[in-house]
Amino acid sequence: MPSLLQKLLLGIPLACLASGHCIADSLDSNYKIDVHSHAVPSIWREELVSAGFPVKNGTLYTDGFPVADWTLDSHISTMDSLGVNYSTISVSAPGVFFLKEAQKAKSLARSINLQLHNYTGTHPTRLGALCLLPLPYVDEAVEELKFCLDTLGFVGVGLFTNANGTYLGDKSFDPIFSALDARNASVFVHPASPDCTSVAGGWPIPMTGYPFDTVRAIESMLLTGRRAQYPDIKMIFAHGGGAIPYLASRIAGMASLPWLGGLSVPESLAQLAGYYFDTAASTSAIQLTALKSFVGTDQIVTGTDYPYVPVSQALSGLAAIEGNGNFTTGEMGKINNLNALTIFPRIINALKLN
Ligand SMILES: *[C@@H]1O[C@H](CO)[C@@H](O)[C@H](O)[C@H]1NC(C)=O
Ligand SMILES: *[C@@H]1O[C@H](CO)[C@@H](O)[C@H](O)[C@H]1NC(C)=O
Ligand SMILES: *[C@@H]1O[C@H](CO)[C@@H](O)[C@H](O)[C@H]1NC(C)=O
Ligand SMILES: *[C@@H]1O[C@H](CO)[C@@H](O)[C@H](O)[C@H]1NC(C)=O
Ligand SMILES: *[C@@H]1O[C@H](CO)[C@@H](O)[C@H](O)[C@H]1NC(C)=O
Ligand SMILES: *[C@@H]1O[C@H](CO)[C@@H](O)[C@H](O)[C@H]1NC(C)=O
Repeated sequence: MPSLLQKLLLGIPLACLASGHCIADSLDSNYKIDVHSHAVPSIWREELVSAGFPVKNGTLYTDGFPVADWTLDSHISTMDSLGVNYSTISVSAPGVFFLKEAQKAKSLARSINLQLHNYTGTHPTRLGALCLLPLPYVDEAVEELKFCLDTLGFVGVGLFTNANGTYLGDKSFDPIFSALDARNASVFVHPASPDCTSVAGGWPIPMTGYPFDTVRAIESMLLTGRRAQYPDIKMIFAHGGGAIPYLASRIAGMASLPWLGGLSVPESLAQLAGYYFDTAASTSAIQLTALKSFVGTDQIVTGTDYPYVPVSQALSGLAAIEGNGNFTTGEMGKINNLNALTIFPRIINALKLN
C-alpha cells in the first residue's frame, strides 16, 4: 500500500475531510456509506421471544412494529440492490435493556457484539459494527464500550435516545461520555420508545414516538449541560433528527428563560445543530430543505434503516435525496461518504484509503 505522500507523488487525487484529514480520493460521489442499518442476530431475536415480546402469526413485534427477517447474506445482497457500498450495522431498540438484571444484559450484549464482529470479519470492506451497550447498567456498559473499541476495533458505538427511561443527559451516564471522549469515539443514536407508550394510541411507537424521542434526547443533552461538557464527541441522530430542525428555535427560546437556566439562544441553537443527522425516512423535499438550512451539507449522512423499512422505500428514498435536497454532486459526495468517513475514521482504514 503506497503512503499518502507516495500517492500524492503518483498523482492520485486526495479528498480532505472536514476534520482536515486527507484521504486518497478513490471513492466517487456515488459511493454510499449507510450509517443506519441493522443486524438482527438470532441470539437477540430468541431472547426477545423468551422475554415475552409478542409473536403474532409467526412474526415477532417490538414497540408494536415487526422485527424483520434478517440474515447476513440478505443484508449484503440488499446493499447491492440498494447501491450501498458500506454499512455500519447496529442493533435496534430495545437493545438489551428489556433484561432486568445487569449480568444478563451484559452477557447478551457481549454475545451480540461478538456476533457483529463475526459479520464484519466476514465482510470487512462492506460492514462496520457499532457497539451495543448494556445500558442503563453504566459500569457494565463502560466495560463493553472498551471491549468493542479497544479489543474488537469496532468503528463506533450505538446508543439509544433513552435506556429504560434514562435519557442521554442523565448524570449517571457521565462515565460513558467520558470513555467516548477519551477515545475520540463517535456515536450513532437510535431512537427508543419513551416510557409513556399509551400516547401512541395502540399504533406502532416508531411512527411518531421514535422521532419525538430523538428530540427529547437532543434536548436532554442541551438542558443538562452534557453537550456543553463534551462538545467534540461526534454524534449522529437518526431520521433527520426527528423533528429537531423544526423545533430547535422553540427549545432554544424556552431554554433562554431565566428560570430554565437562561442559556443564550445562539449558543443553544448551535448546540442543537451540532450533530450529524441521517436521511433514513427523511428524504422528502420538506425534510431535506429544513435539514439543509439547519446544518448545511457537512452534517448530513446517508441512512436507510434497512431491514426495518421495505427495500422499495429505501430505494426510492436514496434516489430522492439529490433532487429533493437540491444537492450538487460535490454535496452528494459528502452526504454519501465523506461525512461518514469524518465521523468514523476507522472506515478509512478498513477501505485502505489512507
Ligand atoms: C399469517 O402468515 C401467513 C404466512 O406468512 C400468511 O399467509 C397469512 O396471511 C398470515 N395471516 C394473517 C392473519 O396475517
Ligand atoms: C459501489 O456500489 C455500486 C453499486 O452497487 C457499484 O457500482 C460500485 O462499483 C461500488 N464501488 C466500489 C468502489 O466498490
Ligand atoms: C463467523 O462464524 C462462523 C460460524 O461460527 C465461522 O465459521 C466463521 O469462521 C466466523 N468468521 C469470522 C470472520 O470470524
Ligand atoms: C427500568 O424502569 C422500570 C420502570 O421505571 C424500573 O422499575 C426499573 O428499575 C428500571 N430498570 C433499571 C435497570 O433501571
Ligand atoms: C483525539 O483527537 C485529538 C484532536 O484531533 C487528538 O489530539 C488526540 O490525540 C486524539 N486522541 C485519541 C485517543 O485518538
Ligand atoms: C438549487 O441550488 C442551486 C445552487 O446550487 C440554486 O441556484 C437553485 O436556485 C436551487 N433550486 C431550488 C429549487 O432551490
